[in-house]
Amino acid sequence: MNREPHVAVVGATGAVGIEMLKTLEKRNFPIGKLTLLASARSVGKKLKFRGEEFTVTELTKDSFAGIDIALFSAGGSISKEFAPIAAKAGCVVVDNSSAFRMDDKVPLVIPEINAADVKLHQGIIANPNCTTAVALMALYPLHQAFFVKRIFASSYQAVSGTGAKAIEELKRQSEQIVKGLPITKEVYPHQIAFNVLPHVDSFLLDGYTKEEMKMQNEGRKIMHHPTFRASVTCVRVPVYRAHSVAVNAEFERPVTVESARAVLKKAPGLQVIDDPAKNEYPQPLFLAEQDDCAVGRIRQDCALDNGLAFWVSGDQLLKGAALNAVQIGEELLK
Ligand SMILES: NC(=O)c1ccc[n+]([C@@H]2O[C@H](COP(=O)([O-])OP(=O)(O)OC[C@H]3O[C@@H](n4cnc5c(N)ncnc54)[C@H](OP(=O)(O)O)[C@@H]3O)[C@@H](O)[C@H]2O)c1
Repeated sequence: MNREPHVAVVGATGAVGIEMLKTLEKRNFPIGKLTLLASARSVGKKLKFRGEEFTVTELTKDSFAGIDIALFSAGGSISKEFAPIAAKAGCVVVDNSSAFRMDDKVPLVIPEINAADVKLHQGIIANPNCTTAVALMALYPLHQAFFVKRIFASSYQAVSGTGAKAIEELKRQSEQIVKGLPITKEVYPHQIAFNVLPHVDSFLLDGYTKEEMKMQNEGRKIMHHPTFRASVTCVRVPVYRAHSVAVNAEFERPVTVESARAVLKKAPGLQVIDDPAKNEYPQPLFLAEQDDCAVGRIRQDCALDNGLAFWVSGDQLLKGAALNAVQIGEELLK
């Protein structure tokens, strides 16, 4: 890999794409050349990077000549069509969509957990589902210490997880309600302002949603733990940014609050915010735009053997998307 690679951001104008640019800049990623790609709608749009303006060009089959790393965040169908073309052109794709995550030939990576898998790539590396990424930042260190058997979890997912249009929808509906106007819906099937929707992604035949099953399927692959089980309810909440997950985990080995806390305090990319006496626990409001995830409300689970209950929050646009993708890029350069 070129030490000063030519990097392309595919979907540069989107909620994740904008964070990709900020993260590349913040982490001083050694970029030789930068190309910004999006749909025909955005051609000519200018985006700032390191104080310079870059013009967005249209993604086409010919976009990838000479590009070393392409960070894709333009949706699953774009990834399915263009990631193989990019890989064939000699570029390493880091893909944010779910298109390749469960493909055996594609590593699915959270660098704090399975960075070594990056080396197994054949041109495409997948970034995990954002809710799974946030939950695993706390669950994996506990798994290493106590061996997780299964979890029950509920997510509290921010609207930015659905993209730029959903951020606008929450803002618009909040204003409409405050002004006493009828609300308009474009993104979600129901009002999201002042409401919660137990519905993220499409429903499967067994009643779970696709998003809910990602925790088990992707969790197994990332943790190299084929018997891991996860029963999850994913909920969209009127929060702009940062997902939270309430987790009840059952472990093979005995676990205490003290031993869990000791493990979590040493975990990379994770803060422990857990002082109930002072009303201190992770809140999405304060984790927005933070690289680290945070865990709190750590307590012995009263209904599971060797069980632990905890709450983890993290900025899904960062650890669940842009930051994780850039960290994978950094692994490629090592
Ligand atoms: N949001 C999150 O928290 C999150 C987390 C993890 C993974 N992801 C994944 O990341 C991807 C993008 O999500 P997002 O939230 O950033 O969505 P978004 O805000 O809607 O942005 C979508 C991006 O894709 C581009 N795009 C759409 N159609 C295109 C086309 N035909 N050709 C080229 N570019 C096209 C858009 O360009 P225009 O502006 O020109 O339309 C825009 O830059 C999705 O696969 C999503 O599942 C998102």
